[in-house]
Amino acid sequence: MKLLLTGVSGLLGLNFAQETMSAHEITGVDRGKLLHAPFKVLKQDLLDSNAVDSILDSAAPEWVVNCAALADLDACEEDPDLAKRLNTDLPRRFARACKARNIPFVHISTDAVFDGEKDGFYSEEDMPNPLGVYAKTKLEGEWAVLTENPKAMVARVNFYGWSLAGRRSLAEFFFNNLTNSKSMSGFTDVIFCPMLVNDTARTLVAMLQRGLSGLYHLVGPQAMSKYQFGVEIARKFSLRESEISPKSILSSSLTARRSNNLWLSTHKLTADLGRDLPDFSTGLNEFCTQYQQGYPQKLRSYQQA
Ligand SMILES: NC(=O)c1ccc[n+]([C@@H]2O[C@H](COP(=O)([O-])OP(=O)(O)OC[C@H]3O[C@@H](n4cnc5c(N)ncnc54)[C@H](OP(=O)(O)O)[C@@H]3O)[C@@H](O)[C@H]2O)c1
Repeated sequence: MKLLLTGVSGLLGLNFAQETMSAHEITGVDRGKLLHAPFKVLKQDLLDSNAVDSILDSAAPEWVVNCAALADLDACEEDPDLAKRLNTDLPRRFARACKARNIPFVHISTDAVFDGEKDGFYSEEDMPNPLGVYAKTKLEGEWAVLTENPKAMVARVNFYGWSLAGRRSLAEFFFNNLTNSKSMSGFTDVIFCPMLVNDTARTLVAMLQRGLSGLYHLVGPQAMSKYQFGVEIARKFSLRESEISPKSILSSSLTARRSNNLWLSTHKLTADLGRDLPDFSTGLNEFCTQYQQGYPQKLRSYQQA
């Protein structure tokens, strides 16, 4: 299939392209970071007027996955207008243009749309209550997409993996500090469901192949604290877990407000896909194997002159 990926220099977009380029014809949209990618890249700022139509005209995709976003929570607080333009208005434009062209459209949203007050996991039926600009603009992006294009798919995700700059994901944060013997803390009271980003990409393709539409939670099937996640990384790479200190988010100095319960149920997705999602240890094993096989360096070589 001809697959258009926005945000292809990002953590999800780049791994998605890498994961699917042998079976599908990939066109990624990038603002100029990727100089040597092994797939087709269109250089374009997505906020330029007419960007959406001109990209769709030139790539003529059969599927579109919108991974572009302003995904830095503090940057969203600093520039709410930019956050709205990227996280709400841009997906609305893609949803509308894909509907007009009859192209299946997937928009990537976030587990952060809930306030974390619930005791237990959140399903797609639960009422979101975003805590900050990022989460609010992402939730409004979901609404905009499904209002414009009810056949679109919206996936609320959480993932980790190797990134272009080597420091985008929480796993890289722990790994980089651990390998430099730098002490760090991990929150014991923030619960989330991490999934290896390559599994996220593979599952999104399976969802597209099944023709799913509407809202889905697509996160790892195992909930854990961010501290526990760091410890799992340390153990997998035989690094010193004692470098990670348990800490409460209540004593942190993070600027943007964050939910402390990002535990999402994936029951709807597994029922509609007819299979379980890959478990945490399988993803972590692959993350480690990728490292041993030079996957992070391979990704980074795409941006070198
Ligand atoms: N990381 C997570 O665990 C996580 C959790 C929940 C939800 N999500 C969602 O998953 C999606 C992907 O996240 P990510 O972690 O891959 O984000 P990321 O690494 O920050 O990537 C964002 C991408 O958007 C691109 N972009 C931003 N502004 C653009 C513009 N004006 N024109 C063209 N491209 C632009 C960036 O390009 P540049 O490189 O040029 O800036 C980058 O490629 C987002 O929707 C995010 O909200 C991520």
